[in-house]
Amino acid sequence: MSRPLLERLEARTARVAVLGQGYVGLVVAMRASEAGFDVVGLEPNEARAAALADGHSYIEDVPDQVLQAALERGYRPTTDPADLAAFDVAVISVPTPLEEGLPDLSFIRSAGRMAGEHLTRGALVVLESTTYPGTTTELLGPLLTEVSGLTSGDDFLLAYSPERIDPGNPTYGLHNTPKVVGGIDEPSTQAVAAFFGAFVKDIVEVPGCGEAELTKILENTFRHVNIALVNEIAMFAHGLQIDVNAAIDAAATKPFGFMAFRPGPGVGGHCLPVDPSYLSWRVKTTLGENFRFIELANDINEHMPHYVVRRITAALNLDRKAVNGSRILVLGVSYKPNVGDTRETPARPVIEQLAELGAELTIVDRYAAARSATFAGHDLQGELEPDHLATCDLALILTDHDDVDYAEVARSAPRVLDTRARIDPRPDTVERI
Ligand SMILES: NC(=O)c1ccc[n+]([C@@H]2O[C@H](COP(=O)([O-])OP(=O)(O)OC[C@H]3O[C@@H](n4cnc5c(N)ncnc54)[C@H](O)[C@@H]3O)[C@@H](O)[C@H]2O)c1
Repeated sequence: MSRPLLERLEARTARVAVLGQGYVGLVVAMRASEAGFDVVGLEPNEARAAALADGHSYIEDVPDQVLQAALERGYRPTTDPADLAAFDVAVISVPTPLEEGLPDLSFIRSAGRMAGEHLTRGALVVLESTTYPGTTTELLGPLLTEVSGLTSGDDFLLAYSPERIDPGNPTYGLHNTPKVVGGIDEPSTQAVAAFFGAFVKDIVEVPGCGEAELTKILENTFRHVNIALVNEIAMFAHGLQIDVNAAIDAAATKPFGFMAFRPGPGVGGHCLPVDPSYLSWRVKTTLGENFRFIELANDINEHMPHYVVRRITAALNLDRKAVNGSRILVLGVSYKPNVGDTRETPARPVIEQLAELGAELTIVDRYAAARSATFAGHDLQGELEPDHLATCDLALILTDHDDVDYAEVARSAPRVLDTRARIDPRPDTVERI
């Protein structure tokens, strides 16, 4: 059954539909187009689809020239699910958020329905959204069958392949990060490996969808737990008057058995604050057990914004100042450096708490300001002006974008709290968490 598809994949004549043109789906669509496939990008957000059709990318990792070249090759962004017709490969890369702490699979359901309506015999559906183990076989497969009347395995191929991209990473992208793939059966695994193998250097086949789904959540839970560990160590180290970053640097000289994670103001983005909770929900609902590591890591990482505010209160106190009425200059609000993504960023609770305490806030973030004029109800400034540093009571580094002159921040701000260890500590003026 899968031979014709494999042949079309090899000849690059397969018709590829990517559902969701966000951080993940747009990159896949661009790479698939570069590999020579005929690519449709389904994006229900009309403003996004229109921007793509005009050759304007809203994803930092996809420059306008790359998008425009794809458009010239025939890549078609669309809001119309009818354009999925006759796809050979459908890749689903839609959001998987939490809704009141529980997995919200409504986007996978709606994308699955759209794919199901255009599913034909021999085609391959690949889920790429991060989700709990079991989603592909227990939710997506039956949904595709219900809508199309076709049976997975007998009539169509079904697989899961986690997306591991790290937006803004200059070294590793989709093409050179090994791609994990797992199908419901051997032909599905072969087909998904052949598809991604057309534009990703190394393919890692795992026994099934469950292993592929767990791989992604294992990676993110590993990071989440280790960040929580260094965050807790950082709080205790501060109390013990020990420089935690110096200890991490020293530990990182061990050539085996240690991996450096850095403390920060909490975790953000679409992945770390969300994905581990998908796994703990699955474990709780299926096995009746609590995933204690994930609960503890959530607890510590969610506490970090309060800790940052407490450290600001203590730092201002040294100058006999209260948070109320103090001018606090916030540098960086996105959840990681050099991107404008503010989803789940810990900067939000920090800023909300400071505003509630009466701080006068000036917020500077070139990347976030390029996307929105405001953040958490405050104006966003794109440029750091000398005046900002001269007139503040304290500069707070929440995200260390590379465009800021941190030596100048250290020289000119009367006091600095650096949550990203970007500036060397200076007695009396620069503290790190
Ligand atoms: N951003 C990352 O760094 C990253 C990395 C690895 C994995 N992931 C995972 O990949 C998935 C997608 O994340 P993202 O960051 O690309 O999200 P995103 O919000 O940037 O993009 C998702 C897009 O899907 C669109 N969409 C919603 N419903 C749809 C539907 N029914 N059909 C087609 N499109 C639909 C949305 O309008 C949006 O543009 C999530 O599960 C996420 O956890 C994200």
